[in-house]
Amino acid sequence: MTDLTVRAPAKINLHLGVGAPRPDGFHPLVTVFHAISLYDDLSVAAGERWQVDFETAPYVRLTELPEPGSNIVDVAARRLARHHGLDDGQCAAAVSVFKSIPIAGGMAGGSADAAAALVALDRHWDLQTSDDELLALAAELGSDVPFSLVGGTALGTGRGEVVEPVADSGPWWWVVVPSAQGLSTPAVYRRHDELRPDAPAEPADAERLLAALRSGDPRELAPLLHNDLQAAALDLRPDLADLIDAGERAGALRGLVSGSGPTVVFLATDGPSARRVAGTLLEELLQNGDDGEPTVLVANGPAAGAHLVANGVQAD
Ligand code: C5P
Repeated sequence: MTDLTVRAPAKINLHLGVGAPRPDGFHPLVTVFHAISLYDDLSVAAGERWQVDFETAPYVRLTELPEPGSNIVDVAARRLARHHGLDDGQCAAAVSVFKSIPIAGGMAGGSADAAAALVALDRHWDLQTSDDELLALAAELGSDVPFSLVGGTALGTGRGEVVEPVADSGPWWWVVVPSAQGLSTPAVYRRHDELRPDAPAEPADAERLLAALRSGDPRELAPLLHNDLQAAALDLRPDLADLIDAGERAGALRGLVSGSGPTVVFLATDGPSARRVAGTLLEELLQNGDDGEPTVLVANGPAAGAHLVANGVQAD
């Protein structure tokens, strides 16, 4: 029997400014993270031992997950347990993850699972970890994990792990097109370094975009969406440029690669417009027939960070 379920959102980057690599190999970022209504759900039940199972929505390919024992849920659980001085024998739980966020899609799906694991296991094992400690553990697990905890819309700095909520007069409506094949984030950063050997130490700031977010007007926001990794993602996956064109022809205000890709997201004027764009785009992708079974989703943001749900009802 499931004790509790924690739901964590996908993220897109409304602004992704990438600076020259630091001595530790990570890139300094100025990014605006935005959580959208596409979620992974992580459920925990009592178990004799530690066990994690994954299930996925039809368009998410489980084959790209790491080996059992080394996926990010295992790692998050071990870090949380160690932080509280628990040994492996004290860390039994039966965890199941239902993934709707594409794997290796540039939407922080793994980070969502890590954040959900921290929140769920903290409750399940009654550890009462403070928010600050959870954020610190999240930052150790990956650059996007703190944002997956916080959600909403937030400015990310450092390597992305320093997050600060920003004013957002949304909702904003998005059409989301996952790809049949994932892209490796390190590979996209490497290609970015090759394409931009002259990248400035300081990433491009997000001031104009932040002002547009406050305006609530999608027509103001659209031209300011910005992704420094897009050129590298398109270089590795030239077909994504055609997809962006197709979505904009279908009536989206703007299309861009989500984070390191290959998911492409399109900003629409409102909910009905997003559904129209999605329908038109799906028809075109089906006609082209070159992407197996295409998937086109509609989502909105900002969405809440990792949070407890019970029987589909939010619990406080
Ligand atoms: O932090 P995370 O594990 O998500 O990063 C995955 C990879 O993405 C890193 O190993 C690095 O290659 C790249 N990365 C980067 N600069 C960042 C974030 C990630 O180079 N700010």
